[in-house]
Amino acid sequence: VAQEAQVIVHADRPGPVIHPEIYGQFAEQLGRGIYGGIWVGEHSSIPNIRGYRKDVVDALKAIKVPVIRWPGGCFADQYDWRDGIGPRDKRPVRMNASWGGEDSNQFGTHEFMDFAELIGAKTYVNINVGTGTPREMSQWIEYMTADGHSSLAQQRRANGRDKPWKLDYAGIGNEMWGCGGSMRPQFYADVYRQYATFVHAPSNAPVVRVASGANAGDVGWTDTVMSIAGSQIDAISLHDYTIPTGDWSHKGSATQFGEDEWMSTLQGALRMDDLIARHSAVMDKYDPKKRVALVVDEWGNWMDRDPGAGDAALYQQNSLRDALSAAVTLDIFQAHADRVRMANIAQMVNVLQAMILTDQSRMVLTPTYYVFDMYKVFQGATYLPVDVQAPVYRYGNVSVPGVHATAGRDAAGVVHVALVNLDPHHADTVRLTVLGVKGSAVQGRELTASEINAINTFDHPDRVRPVAFDGATFKHGVVTVVLPPKSVVVLDLH
Ligand code: AHR
Repeated sequence: VAQEAQVIVHADRPGPVIHPEIYGQFAEQLGRGIYGGIWVGEHSSIPNIRGYRKDVVDALKAIKVPVIRWPGGCFADQYDWRDGIGPRDKRPVRMNASWGGEDSNQFGTHEFMDFAELIGAKTYVNINVGTGTPREMSQWIEYMTADGHSSLAQQRRANGRDKPWKLDYAGIGNEMWGCGGSMRPQFYADVYRQYATFVHAPSNAPVVRVASGANAGDVGWTDTVMSIAGSQIDAISLHDYTIPTGDWSHKGSATQFGEDEWMSTLQGALRMDDLIARHSAVMDKYDPKKRVALVVDEWGNWMDRDPGAGDAALYQQNSLRDALSAAVTLDIFQAHADRVRMANIAQMVNVLQAMILTDQSRMVLTPTYYVFDMYKVFQGATYLPVDVQAPVYRYGNVSVPGVHATAGRDAAGVVHVALVNLDPHHADTVRLTVLGVKGSAVQGRELTASEINAINTFDHPDRVRPVAFDGATFKHGVVTVVLPPKSVVVLDLH
């Protein structure tokens, strides 16, 4: 028997623009994220465009990736940008001290910037603060962005790129409280001020400077960094991962789990709302006009490495559970669109909660990919506040709201509403009212599967993929939606 729920969308009270960048990606030099996942080299037998996998490029273009963060992560604070320029056969091989193995440096600045250009994404480069210097940073930025005839601009040209690239975001270190240098916030805030002073970009192409922010609930970090360096900060980051078991030494399987870890993972995703609210409240003390963005530049589910992953660091499968947790997290970012103006899921290909998995020449799109595909209609839309009244979903002692929702109106005036049913057992009959809009037609797509741990594999790539949704009817200004258990539905109302 379907349960009853009610969702009201306030198109009569439009909110801020949903920055497309909250649908951003993170691609670190680790495991098979870059090598094998994005870059195979131009002589590979795997079909490629100048060395980038064609299948992956096409799939990423289809979800309109707005921005990519690179080269790390922890890797960034040990990266020497000069290793990754010039003829590829002359580049040094370095140990990847953060994640094991070696880095051939075949994928460097040119390969990253050209890749971003190829898929139409903005660029977010994380600077080495932990083992680097302000001079190395300022020279890297000059190499990437200078027009004119400075030696660094000429060196870039000699290496094959005439026009400067657009550098959109510069991260000033990564996780400076941990792998970036084990700093205290007071010390980092001063280091940030020093580096920020030397971020020189052309005046017609400003770079957003992102301060390295807090780990999950550490609002003290945000407070201290904002109080000491706030006036020089354009954005500050927040990192939060969901570990299904809550135990880093045994995080839980990406595929073999029961309803207890289904629940704990979704509960972890829902925690993002409180985290953002708490960090935003601290930022409001120093920045009441919300000039400084909060960017959640690492988020997602972190499970045990796939047993068949060989030596690929942080490789994990991706199930319907990941799809739902991604959907509720994106809903939360949209609800905080006034402050959250970029987010980067960890990570794009073959690492953690990936969009795409590859194995040699094969590629499979994950359930999380399909959520990003369904939600791309929200990129650049105007946020519309939503009220949800729904039965709670209970498992053991834990209960969470059974239905989650978000809404936005795009430039063409179409209202898009996403509904997520977290309950794996019960459908909901949702009465959906959009105040301030007279629509008459509804269409949509749904993503679900028969099992909570359903996955797409190289042999069965279509087990979890969106299909047309026929469970919505529009009558007398109300949309009635029969929302299947454990599903994500995105509706377009005309
Ligand atoms: O995404 C994997 C790692 O998680 C990143 O390198 C680091 O910043 C975080 O701890």
